[in-house]
Amino acid sequence: MNKKPKRIGILTAGGDCPGLNAVIRAVTKTAISNHNMEVVGIQDGYAGLIENKSLELDWMSVSGILSTGGTILGTSNKDNPFRYPVTDTDGNLGFEDVSSKVVENFNKLNLDVLVAVGGDGTMAITGKIMEKGIPVVGIPKTIDNDLVKTDVTFGFDSAVAVATDALDRLHTTAQSHHRVMVLETMGRYAGWIALYAGIAGGGDVILIPEIPYNMEVILQRIGERNKKGNRFSMIVVAEGAKPAGGDLTVHRTIAEATDPIRLGGIGQRIADEIQERSAIESRVTVLGHLQRGGSPTPNDRILGSRLGVAAVDLIVSGQFGRMVAVQGSDIVSVAMEEVAGKTKLISPDSDMIKVARSTGVIFGN
Ligand code: F6P
Repeated sequence: MNKKPKRIGILTAGGDCPGLNAVIRAVTKTAISNHNMEVVGIQDGYAGLIENKSLELDWMSVSGILSTGGTILGTSNKDNPFRYPVTDTDGNLGFEDVSSKVVENFNKLNLDVLVAVGGDGTMAITGKIMEKGIPVVGIPKTIDNDLVKTDVTFGFDSAVAVATDALDRLHTTAQSHHRVMVLETMGRYAGWIALYAGIAGGGDVILIPEIPYNMEVILQRIGERNKKGNRFSMIVVAEGAKPAGGDLTVHRTIAEATDPIRLGGIGQRIADEIQERSAIESRVTVLGHLQRGGSPTPNDRILGSRLGVAAVDLIVSGQFGRMVAVQGSDIVSVAMEEVAGKTKLISPDSDMIKVARSTGVIFGN
């Protein structure tokens, strides 16, 4: 782009996440106050550019949102413009490429650049939108912390805080009743939330997708704890954990979603098996969307603000097709195609796995 960008469009796509409003606020305030730009909020992710739903953002419209959860713009995980769900008159679901609508509405709104806040799926879509001639900048987002090329994503810290609080609460009731408590967290393909919360909340067993588990090993550990006088055990399981040689526990599929698989049920499966095979009373708590809702932690507000400011810097310096990222203590930028469609997994040799094992945690392998 040769001319100086004057009008920015910003959208939030995919699952919501605490800290999104901090990003929207930082982008808007920086663009207005430092660069005299205009900012347009696109509603409900890419659906807003397909159906032309937007609102002008000014200083006042982003005032007071820093501490709030969710996204003031709305979001959607059924909004891939290259595979947009449409239902025919007989109610049959089909998919269409409506990406030309995105370009049409981008031009109608008189935008110069699009800021997309999202996960690996959104980065993949946004990279393809760039190929259609729209200058783009990406901001990484997911509570799952599983985006590559960034050390951390905002939302993760808030999710870990919720899961740790849940473990603290479950601990006291587990101790009183001499039970096994199973806490199921989110994390489809990577177990970052389960691992971090499990360490922070003193889990005895942590089960993550990266390390398939063996039930015999878990039962043995519970038995050993009981013998030692620890008549309760805490198990943290990511929704995507699976037994060695077994499958993911799929709750249902949603055909029109960008990632159609919805997991859930592994926690119940584990609690039932422990109760049947050890006769120790077991209970399960599924945290679900509690991990995604509510106020962001201070760290997530700060990270969202830093990334928002850095995204505007990228726009001003004309660096499009890039995503802002955290590497060490710095905010850097990486090519969007390096992130698109990839998952950052926990390495079994990582420092955090070592910390957990050294403090008595087992991973069931
Ligand atoms: O990717 C974020 C995430 O919260 C996953 O951890 C979870 O499996 C999924 O989204 C849930 O999606 P939905 O909100 O569509 O149920």
